[in-house]
Amino acid sequence: MNKIPVQIFADAQAAAAQLATETAELIRHNDSSAKATVLGLATGASPILFYQELIRLHNEQGLTFANVITFNLDEYAGLPPEHPESYWSFMHNNLFDHIDIKPENIHLPSGTVADADIPAHCKQYEQAILNAGGIDQQILGIGRTGHIGFNEPGSQKNSRTRAIQLNRITREDAAPAFGGINQVPTAAITMGCGTILAARRIVLMAWGTGKAPILKEAIQGPLNDEVSASFLQEHTDAVCYLDQEAASML
Ligand code: GLP
Repeated sequence: MNKIPVQIFADAQAAAAQLATETAELIRHNDSSAKATVLGLATGASPILFYQELIRLHNEQGLTFANVITFNLDEYAGLPPEHPESYWSFMHNNLFDHIDIKPENIHLPSGTVADADIPAHCKQYEQAILNAGGIDQQILGIGRTGHIGFNEPGSQKNSRTRAIQLNRITREDAAPAFGGINQVPTAAITMGCGTILAARRIVLMAWGTGKAPILKEAIQGPLNDEVSASFLQEHTDAVCYLDQEAASML
């Protein structure tokens, strides 16, 4: 029934610990042959425990990020990096400020590019991923609309990094953090579904009963552009790491 492989964990902490161990192995393996590791990263509540585990491995086991290159999925349009709700702030607060990654190896789309320059900015982002050798491992959460990154319903399977209007449900979910829906940006820049699917390995993380219905659609429903996470069904190395609650409708 599951069209995307699923691993169910006792809780989110156990899943985060396993994913951090796997990520550390990938980094150490690449380091041993002087190869950079390219990680695609996500924001939201879902990956926070995973980032905490990476920080712990850095502090306690000497895991180094000196040869790691990162690309984040998305950024809100209109938010400067220093805005407390920007994904730039999120990533620095939750991960980058606590590890030894080189600032020049960190990539996020910019939320402050002038409208006329957005297509060129998005092209450069795609090119930077290619120049780095492509993404070794992409981390994903899932929005209640089924989006990965900010690929809202209607996003094409072959879509690339671009500007996108945010769905009302997505903006409602972000409203508490922004202090009201009117403060939530109406648009974002996101990697496309095609950009995400080009990653060599993809791990989607989701916790709690709130995500159970959309996970059922993405994992067991038809592949379709109303649920962009369903595109993972066609990837040869994609997996969903779920807790019992998130998996409860499968
Ligand atoms: C936002 C992000 C997504 C993320 C989603 C779910 O929309 N752009 O990348 O997956 O939120 O967030 P959470 O993990 O907080 O449920």
